[in-house]
Amino acid sequence: MDILAIETSCDETAAAVVSDSGNPAWPWTVRSNIVASQAEIHREWGGVVPEIACRQHVRDICGVVERALFDADQVWSSLGAIALTQGPGLVGSLLVGVAFGKSLAAALDVPLVPVHHLAGHIESLVIDGGQMPLPAVVLVVSGGHTNLYLVASHNNDADLSYQIIGRTRDDAAGEAYDKVASLLGLAYPGGPVIDRLAHKGDDRAVRFPFARMTHDDRNASQGVTQPAGLAAMQRNRRLEFSFSGLKTAVKRHVQKRRAQIDGDGCLPDCEVADISASFQRVVVDTLLDRTFRAARQYGAKSVGIAGGVSANSRLRTDAVARAQREALPLFLPSLPLATDNAAMIGAAGLRRFHAGVTAPLSLNAQASLAM
Ligand code: KG4
Ligand code: ZN
Repeated sequence: MDILAIETSCDETAAAVVSDSGNPAWPWTVRSNIVASQAEIHREWGGVVPEIACRQHVRDICGVVERALFDADQVWSSLGAIALTQGPGLVGSLLVGVAFGKSLAAALDVPLVPVHHLAGHIESLVIDGGQMPLPAVVLVVSGGHTNLYLVASHNNDADLSYQIIGRTRDDAAGEAYDKVASLLGLAYPGGPVIDRLAHKGDDRAVRFPFARMTHDDRNASQGVTQPAGLAAMQRNRRLEFSFSGLKTAVKRHVQKRRAQIDGDGCLPDCEVADISASFQRVVVDTLLDRTFRAARQYGAKSVGIAGGVSANSRLRTDAVARAQREALPLFLPSLPLATDNAAMIGAAGLRRFHAGVTAPLSLNAQASLAM
């Protein structure tokens, strides 16, 4: 079975063709994976501008889908289903992929499979590393989310359940990277830039604070829809994240140093590198502390880290060292599958399709969506 997948949740227009491999241990074969990134366009504005993003998706989607089909050496009639990202994401962006995918499914008379964007990120781990030993603890860490999931088999090994066991109370880790980069005068998206500069800096140069969760999240239920499972779970502060205090600490430090410097107030490159490395140490240690604590607490048989921030070189190196220490198999995506792509949506779509999930053509985009 070949599935065509479409992903337009943020600022990447992506399409892919993914097939069943026939090997239950390594179930997905990626036949093509096309991503048109809008990063260059949004850089000028310092972040993603939603209206520009959805208009650009409209421009790019036909070419991206045609290219995915061409690269996979497929014709329309060979497709068995259409998978698409239903949410969460920017609603205008999602609507482009949803409308396009629905039209294709109607025209080709094939089933439509809705996919949760974060289930897609989790499936990227299976594309690259094969089925994860379950239960697994997976950290999904991106520009919009920092969530810890307990992934287990539901009805059978092919059908997974995702229970949220921890999340950020404020900024996502990728968002913190992007905001800190912006206040250091670095280009959007900031994650890759800080990652690169941090290699040249001293990660102990500045003592930024680690967030400690000393009380329950007072904002948790104030008009915020709780993801399924979070309210029901035994709430555990020690698996929650917070990055806004760290961001503010970096901001104060930068303001103080700029005021101390004569002339144009520009920080020297070596100082920017030190701040990048010091900030990154706090983020990476926090992410890994919580993830491996959750793995111990839930008796996980494997650990995964997915989403755009999983491309971070220090996070990857430190995660490998910790997993070795804890004798746990570690799953990381290859770099092209770490950031947003449609191959992961195709793989998650095939998994859902085999679990019997399809959607009617009345399907709509959901800016926030429980998994
Ligand atoms: O998963 P993704 O492509 O989109 C979302 O679903 O949000 O993640 C994008 C995020 C951005 O915040 C970007 O700065 C961050 O991933 N990112 C990184 C790195 N590469 C991308 N953060 C840290 N280090 C990196 N190497
Ligand atoms: Zn993403």
